[in-house]
Amino acid sequence: MRRYLLPVLVIAGILLSVPATANEIAIAPQVDASRLPQLGTSWLAANPYRHQAPASEAVAIGRDAYNQACARCHGADASTNAAPAPDLRNLDRGCRRIADAELKAWCQRDNDAYFAKSVRNGKIILGVTHMPPWENVLKQELAWAIQLFVESRVAAK
Ligand code: HEC
Repeated sequence: MRRYLLPVLVIAGILLSVPATANEIAIAPQVDASRLPQLGTSWLAANPYRHQAPASEAVAIGRDAYNQACARCHGADASTNAAPAPDLRNLDRGCRRIADAELKAWCQRDNDAYFAKSVRNGKIILGVTHMPPWENVLKQELAWAIQLFVESRVAAK
């Protein structure tokens, strides 16, 4: 038994020294969202900035917020598929392929709803936090701006 003691202690030490919860904390990005049209506290069903706000401003603000809040898991500047978490540029891939404008709009609305739900609730699977919930941490203005930024990265590819 004693000869197992040292390896067991070493392994336990390694496990304990990894801050298991560090990744699970959602930290609000320090980004001024006041230049975006304000949306109030209840979340909208679809991205209001896609056809409304000056898109370039929303994309620039979204980029800042993304790099502060999301990049550590989803990859810097939303421009890699080698990050630990899914490449968010793939999210609207299906909708982009649709030519029919009406169908495309439906697809996009579904996509927006899924994006907002994922961001608000996080991804907690069998009790394990893969992504922390962002509800009450990330303003919805910033969340929608982040989505536009991610979509703009696809277009630039
Ligand atoms: C601590 C790491 C981490 C951070 C930080 C993080 N995510 Fe995630 N996110 C994940 C992981 C891991 C998944 C995949 C979870 C799964 O389905 O197993 C995910 C999934 C998602 C999904 C669903 C993707 C899909 O293909 O289904 C969206 C949308 C998303 N994240 C958006 C964001 C946004 C926006 C931010 C920044 C505000 C963010 N995430 C920050 C880890 C993170």
